[in-house]
Amino acid sequence: MSTKSQLTQQLGVVAGFDDPQVDLEQYRTPPGLASYLVHSADLRGDIDDRVVIDLGCGTGMLALAATLRGPERVVGLDIDRGALRTARENKRRIASTTEVSWVQADATRAPLCPPDETTVIMNPPFGAQDGNEHADRAFLETTASIADVSYSIHNAGSGEFVEAFAADNGGEITHAYGAEFTLPKQFDHQQEDSRVIDVELFRIEWR
Ligand SMILES: C[S@@+](CC[C@H](N)C(=O)[O-])C[C@H]1O[C@@H](n2cnc3c(N)ncnc32)[C@H](O)[C@@H]1O
Repeated sequence: MSTKSQLTQQLGVVAGFDDPQVDLEQYRTPPGLASYLVHSADLRGDIDDRVVIDLGCGTGMLALAATLRGPERVVGLDIDRGALRTARENKRRIASTTEVSWVQADATRAPLCPPDETTVIMNPPFGAQDGNEHADRAFLETTASIADVSYSIHNAGSGEFVEAFAADNGGEITHAYGAEFTLPKQFDHQQEDSRVIDVELFRIEWR
């Protein structure tokens, strides 16, 4: 298994969105955060020989990180065709030999029926900026219906909401981590060149 920092380095070639859509919250997950999530999942046996699904895969950062470990297969799903084009191109850049199925679909009505041993990894839209708080709820609903374990990134302060959602939907948070997410300036409404926000990562087991 490569180290976390080797994985971060490999992910450094993953390009950002060509034409980011603000309403879809198209921010590339930073390589360091993606490798943190996937490396932690791999250490817990949640990647090897499993189906791994990245909901809202965007540039493919998380899905591609998973391909660099030992999954049975990887699915990257996004609603935006342009993002999937970028993800395919990024797959060529990292030169991974693991097959990825890129699926254009709404993650809140995902046409997926994976096997029992499925890991969802995701950095869903937070909905915090446009007042659509907990836009991540619909992504969690899909996750609860297709995964037995998931790793997801949420904005800081989501712990109570995620815990209550999991409890109501047959899930349990087994691990919670704090992390930082550097947002580059890519939209007009952003004033600074880049901004660091606090996020939370959760590992959830679903029954
Ligand atoms: C924060 S970005 C995820 C970034 C991705 N992990 C990456 O590193 O590029 C959120 C992603 O969710 C996608 N998205 C938003 N709403 C969606 C929906 N209803 N169904 C599927 N994808 C959606 C966006 O197009 C965007 O790529």
